[in-house]
Amino acid sequence: MTLRHFLSFSDLTGAEVRRIIQRAIELKQETRNGLHHDHILRNKMLGMIFEKSSTRTRVSFEVGMQQLGGHALFLSPRDTQLGRGEPIEDTARVLSRMVDCVMIRTYEHEKIERFARYATVPVINGLTDREHPAQLLADLQTYTEQRGDIRGKRVAWIGDGNNMCNSYIHAARQLGFTLAAACPEGYDPDPEIGAAAGAALELVRDPRQAARDADLVVTDVWASMGQEDEKSARRQAFTGFFVDAALMRLARPDALFMHCLPAHREEEVSTEVLEGSQSVVWEEAENRLHAQKALVEFLLLHP
Ligand code: CP
Ligand code: NVA
Repeated sequence: MTLRHFLSFSDLTGAEVRRIIQRAIELKQETRNGLHHDHILRNKMLGMIFEKSSTRTRVSFEVGMQQLGGHALFLSPRDTQLGRGEPIEDTARVLSRMVDCVMIRTYEHEKIERFARYATVPVINGLTDREHPAQLLADLQTYTEQRGDIRGKRVAWIGDGNNMCNSYIHAARQLGFTLAAACPEGYDPDPEIGAAAGAALELVRDPRQAARDADLVVTDVWASMGQEDEKSARRQAFTGFFVDAALMRLARPDALFMHCLPAHREEEVSTEVLEGSQSVVWEEAENRLHAQKALVEFLLLHP
């Protein structure tokens, strides 16, 4: 079997993403109907390296592995040799001999690429400074469940051109929707990822221009993990990049609102929008569980 990693959203083709989403929807429905899937990855082990905090990613991968009959191992640099400077290349080779798959949440994207070069088992990006592709699977599952296929739709990204935004740009190109990203000057997404997207990415400065006629409005925190020192400068730069009811009114009447969470109420999004009827953030959070089960099954078994 060929070794497949999921380091970037672009590691999957559009057709593969659609297959994984359909499978995620099926797994979710069956789980809700009381069906068990613990034969699928019986005794398979997922190693999870977290160099940044997490609630959703950790719990969804851990519970997901359990539901598929496998196990997950939480590894933090605080209590592994990685934190004491053992090379990533050595860690990759050692873990590959003991677990069936590795998930990593870290800072530099280059680090996960280096790990994958030395790993002999699939490696999954659980968030780096450049991308958050596992979250995108959950977002796309959520959109598909609520509104059908996302092809041809208009998605408005409001705020920082960060890891989430970069993964959205890849998704737009692969799945055939338009991403209208409104970012303040100096906070644009990765230029290489943007260039590769061609017409799938519309980069603007005015959040209202991005939100107009959007089928989905998405935002994220202004300061991501690791950018805590920039908080006050960012608060200034992002003034006006606020998703409130007035901005949502520019989108289509049936537009959805998503946020990967954790959210800062009254900073990037109003409480009214986050808790309002167009918001699907709780469904989106739950779908991390089902989308990642489908992802791990895909990477380990190539069904
Ligand atoms: N959305 C997301 O990745 O959440 P966590 O940081 O809680 O994992
Ligand atoms: N952009 C945010 C996402 C958190 C899930 C961060 O990187 O902190």
